[in-house]
Parts: sequence; C-alpha cells; structure tokens
Amino acid sequence: MAATVLVTGGLGYVGSHCCVALAHAGYEPVVLDNLSNARESVLERLRELTGAAIELHRADVRDAGALDRALANRPIEAVAHFAGLKSVRESVERPLDYFDNNVNGTARLLEAMARHGVRRMLFSSSATVYGVPQRLPYTEDHPLEPVNPYGCGKLAIERMLERAAAANPDFHYAALRYFNPVGAHPSGRIGEDPRGVPENLLPYVAQVASGQRPTLRVFGKDYDTPDGTGVRDYLHVMDLAEAHVAALRFLEREHRSIAVNLGTGRGHSVLEVVKAFEAASGRPVPIEFAPRRAGDLPEYWADATLAAQELGWRAARGLEEMCRDAWRWQSQNPDGYV
Ligand code: WQD
Repeated sequence: MAATVLVTGGLGYVGSHCCVALAHAGYEPVVLDNLSNARESVLERLRELTGAAIELHRADVRDAGALDRALANRPIEAVAHFAGLKSVRESVERPLDYFDNNVNGTARLLEAMARHGVRRMLFSSSATVYGVPQRLPYTEDHPLEPVNPYGCGKLAIERMLERAAAANPDFHYAALRYFNPVGAHPSGRIGEDPRGVPENLLPYVAQVASGQRPTLRVFGKDYDTPDGTGVRDYLHVMDLAEAHVAALRFLEREHRSIAVNLGTGRGHSVLEVVKAFEAASGRPVPIEFAPRRAGDLPEYWADATLAAQELGWRAARGLEEMCRDAWRWQSQNPDGYV
C-alpha cells in the first residue's frame, strides 16, 4: 500500500507537478483544492501522467469538516501544502485576504493534522521571507525581513510551524523557500496556466513567443546588474517538485525540521531569459523597456548549499531546458487548460 500524501492546492502549478513527482517516487497523492486558481481538467492530466486514479476533495483548507473527511479513514504520511494566494502585487492590495487564506488556512490545516495524527508537513514557503538582500546569495540565516504582505504571511506561517513543532515533538516540517519556479513537465501535459494577464516573466514571454501578446515590457533597464535588467534564480518546476520528494525523505529519515532554499544557486537577467526563450522556441520575443515595477528587487539568487547537504538535492535542469519545456507546454496548450 503506497504511503498517502495529501496535496493541498494539488491542481495548481507547483502542486500538480509535485503530485507527479510524488507518484513517480511511489507515494499516493490525494488532492484537496478549492479550484479558486485551478481547473478541474488538471486532474485528468494528472491521472494520465501518473496512471493513478488520483482522488480530489474540492474544498478550501479553512473548511475543518472537509479536512477531516480528506484525512480520515486512512493513514496519511504527510501533507504537502501548496494551497494559498500567491501574487505579491495582489497581497499589497488585499493583505487581509492573504492573511486569511494563507496564514489562517494553514492554522486550520495544522489543527486538522493534529486531530488525525498526521506528523509531517512540506510547506511552500518563498524567498520573499528574506526581504531586501543584505548579502547575496541568500543563505538560510539571512535576516528575515519581508517587505510585502505575501512575504510577511509566509514568514508568519514559518513561525507558526516552529511553534507547532516545539509543542509537539512528533511533528516535523520542511519550510521550502522557493525562488522562481518556471517551466513545465516535459510531456507538455501540465504547466503554468495563469488567469488573465500573466504577472510573472516566463508565462508572459511564452505568450509573446506564441503571438498572443505583441511585446514583453521589460521592467527597468537601469538596475546595477550586468545588463541593467532584473536578475532572479529561476528553477525548473520539475527540479522543485523533486526537491519536495527529497524533503519528505529527509523528514522520514531525520525526524527533525528544516527551512531550506530551493534554487539553482545562480541568477539570470530578464534579457538572458528572453534570449534563451527565443533560442528554445525559435520564435522572436519583441521587447520594450518600461519603468521599474514597484516592489521589485534588483537581483537575488539562492545559496543552494543547505539543500544539497541536508536533502541530497541539487537543481539538475538549466535555463535552456526550462525554456524548452515551457515552450512545449505553451505551444501544445495555447489556451492553457480548458
Ligand atoms: C521576474 C523578473 C521582473 C514580468 C514573484 C514573487 C515570488 C514568486 C515568483 C510566488 C523581475 C521582470 C516580469 C514582466 C519583466 N511567486 N519582469 N516583465 O517578481 O521575481 O517573483 O514571482 O511564490 O514570490 O515575488 O517574479 O516573474 O514577476 O519577475 O521585466 O512582464 O522579470 O521585473 O525582474 P518575481 P516575476
């Protein structure tokens, strides 16, 4: 009997790729998703890719009854917690929504886990918990001073996990601090499907390459970076998904908690990403320079040493593969999931 992992937000971008990696590693993913930012058609794709009849609970993590139903009647090895709102810009406009969905939602989930004796959590944290870089690359002991409500919520959840683990020695968690997840499963059957106008770079670039949008606005070309444009640590979503399996194995093996960066350890500028995407897609990506975007940091990237030492995980896929897989998803699914 495969060990069951409850994947909240499992129909979303990172959650769906994690379901595939968990199934590939011999776990049985069970999805809980309120479909506020995902389509149910993702489930068919997951069943196709895993060969498993993946169960879906259409519910919000703040619904205690739904959580009890999802966690009851079977031993649950761990919860992989992706469900949450994830737009930095939106979090500035709607901070209380973000704290209710993300922080309150996680508190309800932890309570349900305690009721059902579920002892392990993989938490989708973020590099935004660090705030303005005082030194780069970010190491896990960098000061934690988030500068937007999204990052403040992620840090509040990390603090909540710390206290929950201190109160219950049987409970352990991995707070996984994502850098910039991009790309798609190599099959092209699952990928990033943002609603409306993409806020993030890669899906926007992909839509320009496919002709759905005329040009990419490059937000700022006067940063103190090699080519003046913003630098980020882009991470292939399949590397990220595999890191979750490595983190679960860590919790099973070490019986202790960890907060750890998930990045490649190197940065790429906007213009480097555009060039790589043009090469991978064979399509031009016209650009126009625009003013800096409010709230953007000039550059940041991860120190990925701790993940290698503790999880035995390193990113294996480079920018070219990230762009190639993103393009395959985009070109095979021009309208995303329908
Ligand atoms: C990357 C670079 C932009 C769009 C955010 C969240 C982070 C995580 C990932 C949730 C920057 C530039 C972008 C465009 C551009 N989300 N850009 N034109 O802001 O680094 O991170 O998304 O976990 O928490 O903060 O990602 O992809 O929006 O921007 O020039 O149309 O691309 O200025 O330099 P970001 P991004």
